[in-house]
Amino acid sequence: MRIGVVHESRPTETRVAATPTTVAQLRALGYEVVVASGAGLASTFPDEAYVAAGARLGPGAEAWAADVVLGVNAPSAREIAQLRDGAVLISLLAPATDPDLVEALARRPVTALAMDAVPRISRAQSLDVLSSMANIAGYRAVIEAAHTFGRFFTGQVTAAGKVPPAKVLVVGAGVAGLAAIGTASSLGAIVRATDVRPEVAEQIRSLGGEYVAVAPAEQQVSSDGYARETSADYDRRAAVAYAEQAADVDIVITTALIPGRPAPRLITEEMVATMRPGSVVVDMAAAMGGNVAGTVPDELVVTPNGVSIIGYTDLPGRLPAQASQLYGTNLVNLMKLLTPARDGQVVLDLDDVVQRSMTVVHAGEKIWPPPPVPVSSAPPVPAAPAPVVPAATPPPSRRFVLVGLAAALLFVLTALSPDPLIEHLTVFALAIVIGFYVIGHVHHALHTPLMSVTNAISGIIVVGALLQIGHGDPVVTALAFVAVLVASINVFGGFAVTRRMLGLFTR
Ligand SMILES: NC(=O)c1ccc[n+]([C@@H]2O[C@H](COP(=O)([O-])OP(=O)(O)OC[C@H]3O[C@@H](n4cnc5c(N)ncnc54)[C@H](O)[C@@H]3O)[C@@H](O)[C@H]2O)c1
Repeated sequence: MRIGVVHESRPTETRVAATPTTVAQLRALGYEVVVASGAGLASTFPDEAYVAAGARLGPGAEAWAADVVLGVNAPSAREIAQLRDGAVLISLLAPATDPDLVEALARRPVTALAMDAVPRISRAQSLDVLSSMANIAGYRAVIEAAHTFGRFFTGQVTAAGKVPPAKVLVVGAGVAGLAAIGTASSLGAIVRATDVRPEVAEQIRSLGGEYVAVAPAEQQVSSDGYARETSADYDRRAAVAYAEQAADVDIVITTALIPGRPAPRLITEEMVATMRPGSVVVDMAAAMGGNVAGTVPDELVVTPNGVSIIGYTDLPGRLPAQASQLYGTNLVNLMKLLTPARDGQVVLDLDDVVQRSMTVVHAGEKIWPPPPVPVSSAPPVPAAPAPVVPAATPPPSRRFVLVGLAAALLFVLTALSPDPLIEHLTVFALAIVIGFYVIGHVHHALHTPLMSVTNAISGIIVVGALLQIGHGDPVVTALAFVAVLVASINVFGGFAVTRRMLGLFTR
């Protein structure tokens, strides 16, 4: 089959659905690839690079007339008309918010898969363009904020004076919010973040942010793992927290979204009015109506008190090469799923939950919306508290008898045992007590390094065995050799595991 990579017709779009790297991957799946001339220019991929990767260049109409059409944005009516009968169109389609587009597609004998309808389950993560684009957008939001802020993010102490670090508040700690928290804290800012889903607190902290709780933390999550609308009580408390933060921070980045609804309005005009001149607000929910009063989609607005409100809706496209590469890789992963035999033939399996969820129109028949899919991001439902069963404690009289018996047994043991045994037993008992208190207080994250250090104690076996190696008896020498080998594996293996584990935390 032939795949067509179209030239995006939206004037502000800089991304392309395939890069030279992903074209080579599509070719490896057995497809012929036609790229519309100039399709990759805005994302810095020249036509020659596509040809070198094995694609053929063609006019835009040829790409739209391919068996499988790959695009970034939803097609226009003119582009839908260019699709051939039986074609498979794969692009962002926003089927939940654009029912007219779904109807228009269903009027043609084509199949349409929406890249923005990938279910949020672990198995589908490699196809999830919403996540890959949100990650880029979160990063870029901080870069835009830093550019407009025009001051250091990190604090500095120089001979010319002290520079305080910037304070950043991130509202909504989903994929984009977490990317923004990580980026801002790596630039040295003091980062605070909040979300209606209290389970994100740990993720915020792990990225260097401080969790701002809107007490009492409510579990504002629907069964599909997304936030749902908040209660009036929560909104009141949140407004107090946002008002306090707005007056204190230099930068606010909002990402709060509720699927299928307009974005919740969280930052009011009054809150913006309390921000210092030069402060910056980036409203990443601008396309969905905005979280901030005064946001204008795709524009930078400066308020009378000198606060810049950025409402850009093309944040991923502001890093076009990488956005195209990640989007293209998501598409390649989908094509792998659709090409089980790696023979260049699409086989759509509607029994597969991922393929079913994305398929909006199948051979001219509208099959949207799909059956709901429970997602992995939904927090586990807390188990019902177990009925409290009183612990079976022996009655006091029986306890005294047991303690008495244990004391008598210990007395007989010490009276009958040879001296060295009592000494060893005492050391053993003390070691248990000290070990319990010392090791019991080591943080869980340090258990592996601790294990390798305690493993190294078995190095004493190596010393003992080395002393025995020169022994005349060949059996003893052989045993000593085995002991040296096994103990060395234990010692060095422990350190190797620890090194690998610590490597996970090294940039
Ligand atoms: N394949 C997967 O398993 C997968 C993929 C992507 C995301 N996820 C998970 O799905 C969840 C949603 O991620 P997302 O980035 O798409 O979310 P999103 O874009 O729908 O919303 C952004 C964030 O805003 C928060 N929010 C909504 N209303 C709010 C309010 N009134 N005040 C403050 N915050 C508010 C949401 O809780 C969310 O964290 C996350 O847990 C994410 O990790 C899972």
